[in-house]
Amino acid sequence: MSSERLSVVVTRRLPEAVEARMSELFDTQLREDDRPMTREELIGAVKTADVLVPTLTDRIDAGLIGQAGEQLKLIANYGAGVDHIDVHTARQRGILVANTPGVLTDDTADMTMALILSVTRRIPEGLALMQSGDWDGWSPTALLGGRVAGRRLGILGMGRIGQAVARRAAAFGMQIHYHNRHRLRPEVEEELDARYWESLDQMVARMDVISINCPHTPSTFHLMNARRLKLMKPDAVIVNTSRGEVIDENALTRMLRAGEISGAGLDVYEHGTDVNPRLRELKNVVLLPHMGSATLEGRLEMGEKVLLNIKTFDDGHRPPDQVVPSML
Ligand code: DGY
Repeated sequence: MSSERLSVVVTRRLPEAVEARMSELFDTQLREDDRPMTREELIGAVKTADVLVPTLTDRIDAGLIGQAGEQLKLIANYGAGVDHIDVHTARQRGILVANTPGVLTDDTADMTMALILSVTRRIPEGLALMQSGDWDGWSPTALLGGRVAGRRLGILGMGRIGQAVARRAAAFGMQIHYHNRHRLRPEVEEELDARYWESLDQMVARMDVISINCPHTPSTFHLMNARRLKLMKPDAVIVNTSRGEVIDENALTRMLRAGEISGAGLDVYEHGTDVNPRLRELKNVVLLPHMGSATLEGRLEMGEKVLLNIKTFDDGHRPPDQVVPSML
């Protein structure tokens, strides 16, 4: 272990226990409030810290990395997605990047199921009726949704989270289909009872529910573009707990408004908090504020992963969750 404590700058408030442990182990600069850092604050951080702990609300692009001092050696992201970090440029500068995979799998998969059920069973409309005080009793024809059992679920991106969604959806009686960069091993496909579609177009055209579970990379940007969204059956729904950029949000909004897609459940948006206002007006849409991984357990485990990544690096080894460009 090195004699001088590593200087660590954390860009957002983290759960108290994580901040406390971080301060015990390292010379840590914590955030006093939960405002995201300004560009100037981020520049100040990369000029002074040995380790930066950013999260998905920070843009760690080539320009910022270019301003980093020689001392910056590790970007230990608090989160699994690294699309806000220019991993290539960091590598060229000899700065390691690490993330927190695995610990948000179950929570995000749970939220995916919650969105599928919310949209197909019209839960927000039921909630709104109860909150309005206008409910006048059970009716055989009120608020009829669609049954999920027997429906075809097409999972776009069959990594950890996609597979966790598949397991949950199968327990609800859904038929599992998927498209992925690489086909799963036959024994995994068999265990999940999942059918692989090499052609995303062909899968999209046949599914009742599409779930986006791939990361956002240059090759998945607008993977669900207007042309592909048009392939969806008019009674199909789409849910996204991954990254907004995978869907062309304007095209989706137009099609939902026109009734060309029956519904959507979204936890993430193409332009962050700048959500298309027309999307917010729609009844057949359930919108959540990027809370797929928002459980206390998940956030603590993410913190433990960050601590382990930094500690391992401090001990002279590669962080266990190092991200390299070839993984993207
Ligand atoms: C992540 O870690 O990238 C998640 O999107 C946070 O919910």
